Amino acid sequence: MAELAHTLPASWYCSSPLYQLERKSVFMKSWYLLGPVTKFRTVGEKIAYEIAQRPILAFRTSGNTPFPSSDEFSVICAETETPLRYHITPTGLIFSTISTEAPSFHDFFPDMEPLLARVDFTRLPYRHSIKYEGNFNWKTMIDGYQECLHCQYTHPTFSKTYPSTFYAVHNHHNFSQHIADPSRPDDGLFLYFFPICTLNVYGGGMSSFRVCPTPDPGVTRMEFDYYHLDAGDEFAEYFGFVRQVAMEDFELCERAQGNLGAGVYGQGVLNPVKEGGVAFYQGRVFELVCAQFETDRHIDHDADIRVMAMIYSQAIPTLLAVLVGVVFVYRVRSASVSEKTERHLVCKECEFPADWWTGRDIFEVERRAIFSKTWLCLAHRSRFAKTGDYQCYDVAGFSIFLIRGKDGEVRAFHNVCRHRAYAVTKKERGSAAVLGCRYHGWSYNVYGELVKAPHFDELPGFDRSRNSLFAIHAATTDDGFVFVNLDSRLTVSPLERGFHDAFENHVQLKAGSEWVFGDAVDGSFNWKVATVGHGAFIDVGRLERAVRKKSFLSSILRMLHRSQGQSVHSLFPITSVYAVSGTGCWFTLTLLPKSEQKTTVRVDVYGPNGGSTCMVGNTISDLLKKRVLELELEYQLYIDRAEQSGFECNNTEKEVQKNILDRVKSHSRLEKLQGTEVFPASREPRQNSKFQQADQLCKSLDCKDGTQRKDLAW
Ligand code: FES
Repeated sequence: MAELAHTLPASWYCSSPLYQLERKSVFMKSWYLLGPVTKFRTVGEKIAYEIAQRPILAFRTSGNTPFPSSDEFSVICAETETPLRYHITPTGLIFSTISTEAPSFHDFFPDMEPLLARVDFTRLPYRHSIKYEGNFNWKTMIDGYQECLHCQYTHPTFSKTYPSTFYAVHNHHNFSQHIADPSRPDDGLFLYFFPICTLNVYGGGMSSFRVCPTPDPGVTRMEFDYYHLDAGDEFAEYFGFVRQVAMEDFELCERAQGNLGAGVYGQGVLNPVKEGGVAFYQGRVFELVCAQFETDRHIDHDADIRVMAMIYSQAIPTLLAVLVGVVFVYRVRSASVSEKTERHLVCKECEFPADWWTGRDIFEVERRAIFSKTWLCLAHRSRFAKTGDYQCYDVAGFSIFLIRGKDGEVRAFHNVCRHRAYAVTKKERGSAAVLGCRYHGWSYNVYGELVKAPHFDELPGFDRSRNSLFAIHAATTDDGFVFVNLDSRLTVSPLERGFHDAFENHVQLKAGSEWVFGDAVDGSFNWKVATVGHGAFIDVGRLERAVRKKSFLSSILRMLHRSQGQSVHSLFPITSVYAVSGTGCWFTLTLLPKSEQKTTVRVDVYGPNGGSTCMVGNTISDLLKKRVLELELEYQLYIDRAEQSGFECNNTEKEVQKNILDRVKSHSRLEKLQGTEVFPASREPRQNSKFQQADQLCKSLDCKDGTQRKDLAW
């Protein structure tokens, strides 16, 4: 069976060392479109660009004709003022390099000028530029640009004018030409210049944008320039139209990047016709990065051999001197490393790292050690009353959803489309027999099976059954609590039973509980702070007092007066269940960590369906908001205390934290043993040699990079 093309691995979208290699192999060796000559009208006006952290200035040096000659223009490095090579095409486009390592313009774009000779790019005056950052890798945006398979799903307005039926992408050496409609060659022309520049003639105007990488592989700066004949209403209308398309793409990229970075999705398949532009540019990146990696490896190897040869060839006194020097350097470095480690991570007396509440690395290990392989209580069955009812959760960067099947069972899936990692559903909750991904229209049923994949179904070698959603272990207890375990192994240790028996007896859950209310509040605190005294997160006594103040809730007041106390059950690590005795009303609180400093707290209220339970829900919601504010203050105190004297907490708090610490330490030991990070939730990619080579390259870079892999102190 024919093998379909695959995307680059998700790891290539998230790794800093990989980006550094791209910088060297791709960015330093390319040419960049600065814009048409119309952008550089005023002599001496320097226009700044920054490409792959290289700031450059481009400007017209002399002349007053609309089209500058090549000696009336200059591009220089903004830091050293060293001149850089540039090229002006006969049709008025100006390109520049950012380093001396790029080949000549004609070697880089050998067949571009004749192809673009028919289009006059100087016809439209420059009007406006904008730039902003987005949380995605530069390749995530280029992936979207290099195909219009998504246009009918994502850009309805654009698709009306430029139906995707005729849309075609033609790849050339280092650039692609997109033609929306062959009968209109000057309207609906989209040019992609490898690696990050575009020029777009459509909607009555022209725009170009640069997809500028930043040192953070998950952040990209978008820079747009707009050109139009009219400076007034017509430009405003054109601008509104093209901005709409740009913002739709922006949203796609941020969501897809979130899933690419979560550590679950590995890679997807590409349609050879409709996504040929994606395969083309990704292939170019892959080829250049792999070549650079090999070159660097040989250089490192040769350098090692030279160092060894030098050491062996020196006379004994010199050797001794070198050894003394090495010992000295080692001691100085050890002292400084241990000083840093001491300050950054260790509180020796209590074993806890000093940045227990704030550390990004610690949160990342918690994602792997706890959230990826612990049973998490997320909901109650009554939340899913009918077939297709679903609810989404974002737990520590894992986007997941629960959905009820026709058989009444509640199942869990990663909210990650198997095609190119966009979210299968963007709504927080809803009801649907089929969920359709809005990027390219793949649709999945309530069992996670791929039931429709437009333009893929007919492809030889495409097998729907190999592209089902990633299923998550889910278990529903007898009294209806739904737990999930993200561990990707086929079998995981079964859910421990026990808590719910006692709880069920206490609140008599079987007596017709229904989900009646839900709310979520975002807070700026580490999730572990809220586990300190988790059971008392919401004080039901306080709830009672709060309700009493509201005269219109007198019925609730009476009901709560009758209550004989409260029952709280904590379900490690993120959920607690509360009941108010005698009312039949109970609720769950779930901590949904977002990052090391952000947590969302979700409340769901269940009980006999009726006004009284709803009113309790609203009151809880108010209390929750106040409690989150309190937690934010407490969190600051924890941070201040930790900065002054390291980790501190009382014995009860320490017991909860120790449980977390033990799991984190145990997973860290496993990783040390295996010599690599272990992601229990990640899914095995399909076996293909290119993926393995690419993923292995990224892993070996990450392992070498000290900034990415700080050893934790235990
Ligand atoms: S990402 Fe392409 S269909 Fe979902």
